Amino acid sequence: PRVLFVTSEAVPLAKTGGLADVITALAATLRTQGIDVTILMPGYPSALDGAKNLTVIGSFDDFPGGSGRLRAGVIPDINVPVILLDTERFRACTGNLYVDQDGREFADNAVNFASLAYAAIKICAGRTTAEKPHVVHAHDWHAGLIPALLRTHNISDIGTILTVHNLAFQGNFPLASAAALGLPQEMLNADGAEFWGQVSFLKAGVRYADKITTVSHAYAREILTPRFGHGFEGLLNQRKEAISAIPNGIDIDMWNSATDPLIARRFSSNDMKGKIVCKRELKRLFNLTPINEFAPVLALGSRITHQKMADVALAALPTILQNQPYLQLAVLGCGEPVYHAGFRQLMERFPGRVGLHLGYDEKHAHALHAGADMLLHGSRFEPFGLTPLYAMRYGTIPIASRVGGLSDTITDAGTVDNIAANANGVLFDGEEPQDMIDAVDRAFQIYSHTAAWHKLQMNAMSVECGWDTSAQQYIALYGQVAAADTKHLF
Ligand code: ADP
Ligand code: GLC
Repeated sequence: PRVLFVTSEAVPLAKTGGLADVITALAATLRTQGIDVTILMPGYPSALDGAKNLTVIGSFDDFPGGSGRLRAGVIPDINVPVILLDTERFRACTGNLYVDQDGREFADNAVNFASLAYAAIKICAGRTTAEKPHVVHAHDWHAGLIPALLRTHNISDIGTILTVHNLAFQGNFPLASAAALGLPQEMLNADGAEFWGQVSFLKAGVRYADKITTVSHAYAREILTPRFGHGFEGLLNQRKEAISAIPNGIDIDMWNSATDPLIARRFSSNDMKGKIVCKRELKRLFNLTPINEFAPVLALGSRITHQKMADVALAALPTILQNQPYLQLAVLGCGEPVYHAGFRQLMERFPGRVGLHLGYDEKHAHALHAGADMLLHGSRFEPFGLTPLYAMRYGTIPIASRVGGLSDTITDAGTVDNIAANANGVLFDGEEPQDMIDAVDRAFQIYSHTAAWHKLQMNAMSVECGWDTSAQQYIALYGQVAAADTKHLF
């Protein structure tokens, strides 16, 4: 059975966040379980460079964004088939994939991602040399138009699933642009893809997909409420029966303390000595002094944005650093310029105790998760949250917000005199600096009890996080949405 993934990101071809990791790992796992998955995504320069054996399978001049070619190839090493939509505009995306240097969305995002949706329609209509899929699995707003366009093109033998990785990103554009996208008038009202006077790609997906999935159980419940629904809670409640949760996994080969080639010394839960070497290496990489194994290291590693509570962390960290006079802080991330400036100031204020790497760097990420004692991960909302799981695989204890996927994967330790047997981290409620400060204080109380801390580390390192079960759940769902005469294939 064939499934077409449509996405904007997939490692190693293009990535701005966790979506990219999830796409590739899930596609590879589904293939081992007998599903013929192909990934359709934009032909960004990095993707055209990274994919192998590219051949043209179709050429069109009637996309909303102009002309484009579809090139099919594979992602090297894992051999997952990929189809790239090669257009002038996607070729020009050399920096961030969605915004310009000043953080403004590219003006032509609407037509570009509409073109991606039309590329999927060409494939589904058999207009390329690729075989038609039985199911289209659309990911996030970038692929949101597809379920609607399949209808307008009268293609009814292909089932659709929309996975919501982040409801905050909606792909909302001026309603005037909708005609150029080929959406008929009857879809452009509040019952369809119209959202407060705009056309919303994500709303189109939520409205017209056969099934909708979220990437954690908690997020599936949260998005039905105004606090987390980002204005979609009404529609989501209407479609409640179509929504289910299939939790993400992580790539357990890539994030494995016992085999990771990117860390200074490998280690396992039986023998943690290597973690000390990793801790010294982390301090060296982030210019933290003194370089000894005693001073604890708190890590912060994520997109540095409002979602990730960068503002709250910046307000809380001076107090945290004062409360814990030996504590050192290592920060890896990139995001909004105002927060970058804030972290630079923090580093100047605490020389030697705060180390910064403002940029995107895979090797630093491995060093960070392997070498730190704790990971501070605030989130105002978190559909899943891969980063804390990466850290946990190296015995680095997450201190995280009790929201979304974080509240599913992390079990709170409670208080030092009464630590839950299966605890693997510290969770906190609230969005005030004091909430974060209290959580870090609580983590340090446990940290000072070596045996209790060790127990948390052992629990964290054995957290369930592979892809196999989730892949099976997706396959069951594919079977539900596939056309009657192809259901038996799944
Ligand atoms: P989100 O998708 O919301 O950013 P996730 O935690 O699910 O959150 O995924 C984030 C992904 O991006 C992880 O793979 C994480 O390791 C990676 N990441 C984020 N910032 C950086 C960075 N500065 N350097 C390296 N990896 C990063
Ligand atoms: C989004 C979410 C993140 C999730 C990722 C992969 O970027 O913010 O929580 O882990 O998608 O599903």
